[in-house]
Amino acid sequence: MGIYLDNAATSFPKPKAVAQVMFDFMTENGCTSGRGAYEKAIEADKFVYQTRKAIAGLFHFNNPKKVIFTSNITESLNLAIQGILKEGDHVIVSSLEHNGVWRCIKTLERDKGITLSKIPCSKDGYTKVDDLKNLIRKNTALVVMTHASNVLGTIQPIAGVGRICRKNNIPFLVDAAQTAGVLNIDIINNNIDLLAFTGHKSLLGPMGTGGLVLNWDGEIHPLKSGGTGGDSAYEYQPDYYPNRLETGTLNVPGIIGLHEAIKFIQQEGLDNIHKKETELIDYALNRLNEVDNITIYGPQDSSKIIGVIPFNLRNKSCEKVAYELDQNFGIMIRSGLHCAPSAHQLIGTEKTGTCRIGIGYFNKKNDIDHLVEALKTVSSNKNNQ
Ligand SMILES: Cc1ncc(COP(=O)(O)O)c(C=O)c1O
Repeated sequence: MGIYLDNAATSFPKPKAVAQVMFDFMTENGCTSGRGAYEKAIEADKFVYQTRKAIAGLFHFNNPKKVIFTSNITESLNLAIQGILKEGDHVIVSSLEHNGVWRCIKTLERDKGITLSKIPCSKDGYTKVDDLKNLIRKNTALVVMTHASNVLGTIQPIAGVGRICRKNNIPFLVDAAQTAGVLNIDIINNNIDLLAFTGHKSLLGPMGTGGLVLNWDGEIHPLKSGGTGGDSAYEYQPDYYPNRLETGTLNVPGIIGLHEAIKFIQQEGLDNIHKKETELIDYALNRLNEVDNITIYGPQDSSKIIGVIPFNLRNKSCEKVAYELDQNFGIMIRSGLHCAPSAHQLIGTEKTGTCRIGIGYFNKKNDIDHLVEALKTVSSNKNNQ
């Protein structure tokens, strides 16, 4: 299959049991949840509820009914942002946001008169908590921050930001796309009001899964309206959770796969997963510096980043490097802007983009060795651009 180093986009491989339980469900049960009263449908309900419980537990949260399933974090972020912000509101975001946040907010700015402020960020990708205080206005209705940048890997100070938000009574939405499944996230202690996650990255689950955990009692307008399996005569979305924000048939096989992935993470231990990834990051940072013409961006400090390392070769475009790695060495990495142009502005790569390796739990030092040797050849190859 080659060497997969694009885990920041989606993790691969998944634990074997993830595909197995999905197969078993689809061949042995196959029923929708929240709809039927027969035994198998009730069994499907149980599977879904157990997954809500597992997700709540993973994030140290105590109310599974406020775990809302979505099809990915982009939907979760849109649900929270569009569901909370009203005309005339002000929103504060970090300088590192993925387009899942950025485009959503820019669209509201253009179409609904929302105003927005960006918290400044250091050149190596860190937000200073105190910078947030100066941006708060009377009409600030939401603060949104990515937990770790998908371009630089830098981990953001969500605990400090959460404290300020709580003190000022402003809901705090965290994009945990890159951290859920690698870092321990405590919703209550970090004053996170809304935690958005995606199932297919470090959570090691299938694509088509994600969610929003609600530690907040404020009003969130549903993104979609439709069937919830109950109260069918009522003409609007029900007021209770999760049905208020979950509508249409759920991705039950995906949700069951996600539960199995969380079980795997808990068996391995979040701390062990983080430790292994940190060792691989250290190893990669050390070895990548052997490559001629390489520029590595970001802090190059494994205690400050998750497994995302951006770099360029000074004598070749990032697209060409990624292409040669794939075609000549079977090594898969990402090139371009990674859907987060703001973060590239910090490091001056908004026009060129960067190569990005995304290290995952199943990578080995050997994968990094192959990458480094291949990059040495790519860098010395005369066919430059
Ligand atoms: C920080 C961040 N937010 C949001 C997303 C969007 O994830 P998804 O495509 O699963 O919705 C990504 C994925 O690249 C990401 O890295």
